[in-house]
Amino acid sequence: MHLAVAVAAVAALAIGVSAHPDPYRDKLNRPTVHDNLDYLKLGMNQWLPETTYTLSEWNNGYMPEECKNIVTGKADGGGTQYNPNDFQIFDVHYDDCGEPWQFCHHRSSNSSIDTVARLFGKLPIQMRQWIRHVIDVPSQQGHAFEWNGSVIFFAADNSITVFAHETAHSLDLNGAYADHALSYSDRWWNEYDQDWQVPDPYSNSNGIEDVAQCTVVSVFDVNVPGGFPSVEPNWGGIEHQIHLIQAEARDAGEGNSILIPGHNKECTHRMPHSNPVPMNGNSKRGPAPDVRMRSNVTLIDTSKRVEKHSGCTLTW
Ligand SMILES: *[C@@H]1O[C@H](CO)[C@@H](O)[C@H](O)[C@H]1NC(C)=O
Ligand SMILES: *[C@@H]1O[C@H](CO)[C@@H](O)[C@H](O)[C@H]1NC(C)=O
Ligand SMILES: *[C@@H]1O[C@H](CO)[C@@H](O)[C@H](O)[C@H]1NC(C)=O
Repeated sequence: MHLAVAVAAVAALAIGVSAHPDPYRDKLNRPTVHDNLDYLKLGMNQWLPETTYTLSEWNNGYMPEECKNIVTGKADGGGTQYNPNDFQIFDVHYDDCGEPWQFCHHRSSNSSIDTVARLFGKLPIQMRQWIRHVIDVPSQQGHAFEWNGSVIFFAADNSITVFAHETAHSLDLNGAYADHALSYSDRWWNEYDQDWQVPDPYSNSNGIEDVAQCTVVSVFDVNVPGGFPSVEPNWGGIEHQIHLIQAEARDAGEGNSILIPGHNKECTHRMPHSNPVPMNGNSKRGPAPDVRMRSNVTLIDTSKRVEKHSGCTLTW
């Protein structure tokens, strides 16, 4: 009996188990502040400024390896199946970063490359820099997930809240905050315990999704005049969760919240680009595009990340 208890305790220590729910697997079960977060779109669209960008298309049959892996189902066990030849690859240069982002845009996508680039460009630079590739594909139903720092939008629409949500997964899981990952930290769960609600039903999926939805609320709160209370009388039920994210975001921004645009003119960190690979096996092509980092940014190391797939099932 005593031995069994001792062995269990050692095992728990060894694998780092603590008292809080498993952020990846355990459903939360709380009352919600609102039915969904669509009511935050208007304010965010109005108050998050666009970032000027230019597009230049790759034109010799290459695509970034991580895009290819994601669109051919290597990231989600075959769930996603698109033909790599149907994609256009763009270097998107935003004004606030010397380094472009590679976007992988399906030719039949529900959104234009400009819609996607414009929406992503509304996110503050210190959020955007935690994303490697932005992928958009046509689909009957709108949904999205984040994987290893890249985001894919199925039937992307004009939804700034979804862009913020998926980017929030990368901030949380790839180490933007001191408590890496925030959703796995005791600090998060201590604040969570002092609240009695989560933002919306989707937040109840698990801790990772709650952190992502609370990040969307936090972005609204710090950028829209009057903050979250101006649209939500029941804000008090998630107050501790929101305050913690905002405190972590201030610390991570070295005095300027990473959730607010404009403070840092330039990017400071970037995900390494992925290698260019041929879209298909056998056609003749020239040399691969040069994707070496040219600007002086800190490279983000995703190797510590526990689960590569955010597990996101957000739909619209
Ligand atoms: C996306 O576009 C396709 C093709 O035009 C259409 O069939 C589909 O319904 C659209 N998806 C959504 C979510 O509107
Ligand atoms: C690159 O950034 C580091 C840290 O911010 C700085 O110390 C260094 O001088 C920079 N190098 C160049 C070439 O700008
Ligand atoms: C995730 O990204 C890193 C680079 O940031 C890369 O080295 C690694 O291979 C990727 N993981 C997988 C499973 O592809």
